[in-house]
Amino acid sequence: MARILIVISGGIAAYKVLDLIRRLRERGHETPVILTEAATRFVTPLAVGALSNAPVLTDLFDLDREREIGHIRLARAADLVLVAPASADILSRMAAGRADDLATAALLATGAPVLAAPAMNPFMWAHPATRRNAAQLAADGVHFVGPEAGEMAERGEAGVGRLASSEALLAAVDTLLAPAAPGPLTGRHVIVTSGPTHEPIDPVRYIANRSSGKQGHAIAAALAAAGARVTLVSGPVTIPPPKGVDLVAVESARDMLAAVTAALPADAAVMAAAVADFRVDAAPQKMKKTGTAPVLTLTENPDILATVAKRAERPALVVGFAAETQNVIAYARDKLARKGCDWIVANDVSEGVFGAGENTVHLVTADSVEDWPRLSKEEVGTRLVARIADALKAR
Ligand code: C5P
Repeated sequence: MARILIVISGGIAAYKVLDLIRRLRERGHETPVILTEAATRFVTPLAVGALSNAPVLTDLFDLDREREIGHIRLARAADLVLVAPASADILSRMAAGRADDLATAALLATGAPVLAAPAMNPFMWAHPATRRNAAQLAADGVHFVGPEAGEMAERGEAGVGRLASSEALLAAVDTLLAPAAPGPLTGRHVIVTSGPTHEPIDPVRYIANRSSGKQGHAIAAALAAAGARVTLVSGPVTIPPPKGVDLVAVESARDMLAAVTAALPADAAVMAAAVADFRVDAAPQKMKKTGTAPVLTLTENPDILATVAKRAERPALVVGFAAETQNVIAYARDKLARKGCDWIVANDVSEGVFGAGENTVHLVTADSVEDWPRLSKEEVGTRLVARIADALKAR
């Protein structure tokens, strides 16, 4: 059982951390808490204390308690420090190495792994300043979980910025408390896209495809098993995220693109998602039957793979997928050139691989084609990851 120091910063998602504290306590962990001053406006020290059954410190603590508990001692004794929700403000102060309140002083003093769970308005998360701070913190060794895409507290606003779910937070805590043995991809960051996208037609309907996410998730699992830090950006699927990956759950292609670019920089990107090529100009209200069927106007979605492959911050290795029903290799070659990626994993879907456990693929590079035998999707993941490890070592 571990001692997890929880830093709650100011944000509407602060109340969600109460449930997390309860669940961490159920698992036998000790959960001392530091509340920033802003956090005390969203949750009270009393409520937090009742759930955590451990010291709750705020900037308003009295000196006697400081002598008794000592925030430096608390920081040093922690096995893990979890910042949840991590506001744009605390990320900025952490990135700058400030220590002007209890929370940042403890974060600077700790030698334990730090896990940040950002939650903020999508525009704040997407702002270059926040991107810079998150990249700096990641370079300093801070781990991230989320944020996820979805509806925001502000009415009608959606995008990437929601606090990761309690399940994702617990999984990330588990991973950090039981670090994996070093593997060939230890120290590398890989982004994986997986699953379908859902393109809304109106608030209740959407266009989707039959992708199950099995292949992308299997690749993410194999990458994590090889020691990589994995950001899995997944459309709506029914399978659980593999252990040890940072899941960003998204719905539409545009959400997926935002989540992928927010996760950069990375050493490699594996784009296994079946991204919808078109989106609908969605109606703001549920469409009604009027006697004449409405016409859906389609707009082309951004190509996430091509966008990532052409960015200045391009990962050293960019891998795309191609699902074709004919001329598999020729189309893959063409796709390689058109999208600017390094490899294409091509498969013939004429015999149905969607939702199946097995896959027959060809690994197409600029100068070679490898035909792999029919393999389980897990085995395809393991083989691909071995190739990725070799390629990154060589670069
Ligand atoms: O062009 P096509 O959709 O066949 O290309 C498939 C590859 O491109 C996959 O790797 C898929 O994840 C990626 N893709 C993408 N964004 C799109 C369409 C496809 O990243 N809008």
